[in-house]
Amino acid sequence: MRTVLVLNGPNLNRLGSREPEVYGTATLDDLAKACAATADELGLAVDFRQTNDEAEIIAWVHDAADKKLPIVLNPAAFTHYSYALHDALAMRTAPLVEVHISNPAAREEFRHTSVVASVADGTIAGFGFASYQLALRAIAGLLAAQTPAG
Ligand code: DQA
Repeated sequence: MRTVLVLNGPNLNRLGSREPEVYGTATLDDLAKACAATADELGLAVDFRQTNDEAEIIAWVHDAADKKLPIVLNPAAFTHYSYALHDALAMRTAPLVEVHISNPAAREEFRHTSVVASVADGTIAGFGFASYQLALRAIAGLLAAQTPAG
């Protein structure tokens, strides 16, 4: 069974209490459970993580590149300015889908730029926690397309 890393950046550990009008009232733990349930349906395993530390998320991305692990990534605020994360992701060796709970394009100007989008297979934003579930489906499709039929 393939493992998908689901990586979450800064402040996402505060889901549930963080700006509930934007991010809702469900917690990171609820999100982890929703991802696990979707992965199970798709015959995938998930390794779900969150960090507030740029160095830590970059180390996880390096490790994923070494192990050819696909990634669903919510880079949170790193999306908008972390060239270090961009460069780490550029070394990827497996599918990568960028996700956002909110729709950054409909929010403040500084959120309209993603320095991650150009190195991802695609971006899913604005669907709440369902963004992650859609991203896992996209990853399953990309993996299936890589696997020779039969
Ligand atoms: C976010 C959107 C980002 O602009 C913001 O910095 C976050 C969360 C989202 O999931 O909607 O922390 O990535």
